[in-house]
Amino acid sequence: MKQYKSPPGSLGLPILGESIEFVLDADFFDKRYQKYGPIFKTHVLGKPTVVMVGSEAAEFVLSSHMDHFSWREGWPKNFKVLLGESLFLMDGEEHRQKRRLIMPAMHGPALANYIGTMEAITQDYLQKWEEEKEFTWLKELKKLTFDIACELLLGTKPGVESARLSDLFTTLTNGLFIINPLNLPFTTYGKAIAARNQILEHLTQVVRERQKNPTKDALSLLIQARDEEGNSLSAKELIAQAVLLLFAGHETTTSMLTWLCVELARHPEVLQQAREEQQKLAHTDTSNLEKLGQMPYLEQVLLEIERLHPPVGGGFRGVIKDFEFNGFHVPAGWQLLYSILKTHGLPEIYSEPKRFDPERFNPQRQEHRKHSFSLIGFGGGSRICVGMAFAKMEMKIVASQLLRGYQWEILPNQSLDTVRIPTNHPKDGVRVRFQPL
Ligand code: HEM
Repeated sequence: MKQYKSPPGSLGLPILGESIEFVLDADFFDKRYQKYGPIFKTHVLGKPTVVMVGSEAAEFVLSSHMDHFSWREGWPKNFKVLLGESLFLMDGEEHRQKRRLIMPAMHGPALANYIGTMEAITQDYLQKWEEEKEFTWLKELKKLTFDIACELLLGTKPGVESARLSDLFTTLTNGLFIINPLNLPFTTYGKAIAARNQILEHLTQVVRERQKNPTKDALSLLIQARDEEGNSLSAKELIAQAVLLLFAGHETTTSMLTWLCVELARHPEVLQQAREEQQKLAHTDTSNLEKLGQMPYLEQVLLEIERLHPPVGGGFRGVIKDFEFNGFHVPAGWQLLYSILKTHGLPEIYSEPKRFDPERFNPQRQEHRKHSFSLIGFGGGSRICVGMAFAKMEMKIVASQLLRGYQWEILPNQSLDTVRIPTNHPKDGVRVRFQPL
């Protein structure tokens, strides 16, 4: 019989393992990947962990062997407490059933109905930015994407209520990556739990209102959703899924849009080409899905942002069945982390991976198509991000309006270094001077 070894690597200190380096060292994965290759062990966030990198590893985890892994057992305790009993943390049949109920609100005809609102909210922000002249992209794009999420997912119009909810979500997000969570009123984690309770209170009220008077938002669609057997989501489930969709629906999009604005400012030739494509479309009505699909260069630019600055650096899983990969054995009970960021940086897949180069996705090069599971910013397989189409459409709408009418210049004396926690962002948030063309 073949003898399999434990993956290379170190489990670090007793109890703490390598959690501190994991959170603080930006090169944590690089160093270990250089030393050990596509599978190695460590000990982070309280559990022995196997890290897997590369397109083969991603295909193994996300598709061919996905029944060996559990989402619920994978994500740290903070995620379970703060994000609740939502799709993100479900497994097996329960997950399949709920996902089927949620999908229609995020795809097809529902999506086409969201375009007008996305455009209108973006227009309001463009006007506001034009008046303000100088601001910080990260902060402003977060407000914009949250207003869009609030109106389209909940039916709450931009205003005081959505601003309060946005602050509550920021406090909740800060609690997700605390290593030793202590629920006390003055700790980051305690504040995150208090914010979650206030969010739940608000959503309970909104769900009640939408149950009485459904509108055109995703929540109203979820309230009315029924599967083939007539099952629907209970009020408690609706609230839990709404927390998740609001959370997942704006932090990630904010991150990608912020990096898009940085890279366009850093690469005038890319900006110019993307602008020319938009200017050719300036007199066509883009408010339908077909027209939004006719922006191939902008799509290449967005793929390159997803590759180089993926908002989610990787995904956790709990190992529920022993498995072997590349000659190494991993027992059930361990935690697994598949790395999106590191996979996107592999020179075997992407030439000069550190370089921002949208041309790698042009029809001739298509570097991401040489191996499946090479571009995995939205995950992959049957549990690929449920909001991918929503997010891609929103980013295209915001980007196309920015490109058609505006320019911005990054102000000096600030750091644009990548900070990955709680979500991927440039350190000082990108202060800019902004004006019409
Ligand atoms: C640029 C924007 C986005 C990025 C990069 C992104 C990324 C991801 C990734 C990587 C996963 C899989 C994680 C894993 O494998 O462990 C995921 C799952 C998910 N995302 Fe997104 N996401 C984005 C936008 C959105 C939006 C707009 C929504 C909803 C409105 C959303 C809702 C979800 C949900 C519910 C899941 C769990 C799906 C399931 O388990 O079936 N995401 N996302």
